[in-house]
Amino acid sequence: MKPRARILLSRRWPKRVESILDEDYEVWSNARDHAMSAAAMRQALRRADGFCPTVTDRLDSDVLRVPSPRTRILANFGVGFEHIDLDAARRSGIVVTNTPDVLTDCTADLAMALMLAAARGVVSGDRRLKAGDWAGWRPTHIPGVRVSGKTLGLVGFGRIGRAVAQRAGQGFGMRVRVFDPRPPSDEEARGLGVEVCAGLDELLETSDFVSLHCPVTPETEGMIGEPQLARMRPGAILINTARGALVDEHALARALRSERLAAAGLDVYAREPEVPAELKEIGRVVLLPHLGSATRETREAMGMRVKENLDRFFAGEEPPDRVA
Ligand code: DGY
Repeated sequence: MKPRARILLSRRWPKRVESILDEDYEVWSNARDHAMSAAAMRQALRRADGFCPTVTDRLDSDVLRVPSPRTRILANFGVGFEHIDLDAARRSGIVVTNTPDVLTDCTADLAMALMLAAARGVVSGDRRLKAGDWAGWRPTHIPGVRVSGKTLGLVGFGRIGRAVAQRAGQGFGMRVRVFDPRPPSDEEARGLGVEVCAGLDELLETSDFVSLHCPVTPETEGMIGEPQLARMRPGAILINTARGALVDEHALARALRSERLAAAGLDVYAREPEVPAELKEIGRVVLLPHLGSATRETREAMGMRVKENLDRFFAGEEPPDRVA
């Protein structure tokens, strides 16, 4: 019988997926469920046929420079792969895959949840009530910002941006404007009920809510900084469920403190799990711990999508979600 390929999971995965993987692979998992060190990742590359990292594992050129790695595939548990140096992986002859599609809906749902929470005092209302700070209904209590019918600007119009457009447009009657370096055609935009902005500035100047849905690349890193925040409508709300490094967090804190922005809803941070103290101090910011894809259904689907990539690769076929 052919020996089973040895795969290493960098974190604990949903139990059901771990059991299914056990049937076909020799699975090593990181029982402590801590982010792996560079040394542990190098060891994984030397010892496992497949290594399955997540967003918390920085596989840079230094880590990937392991001489004659045993690993032939990095099957990432997640859609974003900016933590993996693709060129370095290619140089070492390692294939890289990700998990698109399966987390689109849940991430879009969370972007809507953050938009509603940031605009409507959902979190501060809950906190105050539980702290006994509620003397009853009154017209001036926790006044929020209306969401329905407002203009939403989407920066990035890929799978998740489109799913947010659908929810905001059809569910909340919002006018949806989009900016993407690869914009939809006029016909597609009409069909999806969105307006295409010629540039980021136009989107920022004309939106009540701005939600980010693009990957972090050398071109997009820090794309929402002081000048861009200054272009946003006074009282606008920023939502980020994409990647923290898209935003200059200190500039955002300043824009919130000065009340130039009404609020923000963030699920991602530039140096996770660090969250700038100045953001935590601002009551009008809703901060979540990178929960975009965190539903039982989606996390299982992500694991199964990784398995599909592994199965195809180890069967000598092209894995469906190959990115390098
Ligand atoms: C993703 O899939 O990229 C999520 O951000 C979690 O990794």
